[in-house]
Amino acid sequence: MRKIGFCINSKIELINIVENGVEFFLKSICKVNSDTLYWFMVGFHEILVNAYLHGNKKKEKLLIDIAVSFYPDKLKASVTDRGSGFNFKDIPDPTKPENILKPSGRGILFAKNACDEVFLKKEEGKFTVTIVKKLKEVENA
Ligand SMILES: Nc1ncnc2c1ncn2[C@@H]1O[C@H](COP(=O)(O)OP(=O)(O)O)[C@@H](O)[C@H]1O
Ligand SMILES: [Mg+2]
Repeated sequence: MRKIGFCINSKIELINIVENGVEFFLKSICKVNSDTLYWFMVGFHEILVNAYLHGNKKKEKLLIDIAVSFYPDKLKASVTDRGSGFNFKDIPDPTKPENILKPSGRGILFAKNACDEVFLKKEEGKFTVTIVKKLKEVENA
């Protein structure tokens, strides 16, 4: 297992640095195949932006913790913000006719489609979203 972690203030420039760092780690060090990496980064981007926007509400002093792990059979990323979180059942379904034309509300759906699993965990004063993407055997050969 290989792992990389960050702890950042809620600042958009830092989000960009984390994304570049994670991409470099998975591509150049872990040699993840570019197709798999692309879809994993789609999910990662959505949960990271959500932590910044909805969790920490762009309050610069609030921290975001990020951990990305490379296992022989999967990629995993956890993003922890300092907000009160959400439940899947409480967010509008973006595929329903009344929501189709809305410009927002698709990030979690993208993350679910781009990756294999999305987990939510609420703790005292913090909220964590975890994505998991399975790797096919050939990718690590
Ligand atoms: N980290 C988070 N903390 C609190 N609420 C969140 C978080 N991530 C997502 N949400 C809630 O889930 C909703 C759907 O998220 P998403 O699908 O990414 O759409 P969008 O970000 O465009 O609103 C958000 O509008 C927000 O209410
Ligand atoms: Mg979003």
